[in-house]
Amino acid sequence: MRILFIGDVMGEPGRQALHNVLPELKAEHSPSLTIINAENAAGGFGLTPQVAQELFALGADVLTSGNHIWDKKQIFDLLDQDPRLLRPANYPAGAPGRGWGVYETPLNGPKIGVLNLEGRVYMHNLENPFTQGREILADLRRETPLIIVDFHAEITSEKRALGWYLDGLATAVIGTHTHVQTADEEILPNGTAYLTDAGMTGGRDSVIGVRKEDAIHRFVHQTPSRFTPASGRLWLNGVLIEADPTTGRAVRIERIQKKAEQ
Ligand SMILES: [Fe+2]
Repeated sequence: MRILFIGDVMGEPGRQALHNVLPELKAEHSPSLTIINAENAAGGFGLTPQVAQELFALGADVLTSGNHIWDKKQIFDLLDQDPRLLRPANYPAGAPGRGWGVYETPLNGPKIGVLNLEGRVYMHNLENPFTQGREILADLRRETPLIIVDFHAEITSEKRALGWYLDGLATAVIGTHTHVQTADEEILPNGTAYLTDAGMTGGRDSVIGVRKEDAIHRFVHQTPSRFTPASGRLWLNGVLIEADPTTGRAVRIERIQKKAEQ
């Protein structure tokens, strides 16, 4: 069985990219579950309930997120109400929403767990994603051995270390947040598929999804500039994982990088 994971959707251009190519991707691979990181899906910062519904209508089964999920406060109620929308699990107790879930798949297929974690290096001062990740996985594995981890983190070494730390406990550990797809996909010795970053879905002629002029202005002048999601040429970045449903072990991991303008 296959699981499709799509990297950080950047604003309206990112949603347009999904609209343009997600149906054919799903037809080609027939994933049992489609997971989309949506923390930047509304205007490039955060998520609104309306945009979340749009992503579900476009074909997402589960939405993961990260540090930007708090940018638009109107999402807080949906975080509490909709189990298909996740925020990183390692925020201190009392934060809105939840960081993991177990989901049914079509035709009475196996259940699939999804766990969202956030790194701590150059990020927020959160609970330990390593120890907390293992504890949550131990609980989830009582329900299903098929579990996908979205690790939303800034630096490659923290992501790689978590991949090793969770090898054999999760079906896949996929990194998000840095928006540049890495080429280090592999299946670790105990059966966990690993990729440091899935990449970004949105404007291709950009600086990690932001209009290049906006990003360059900030670097050149060292003064604030308004960041707008880039349009024009679009692409979808993600990864496809194939797993053995009885053991939860990954058997194949394939990066996806697809032209997505019409
Ligand atoms: Fe992020």
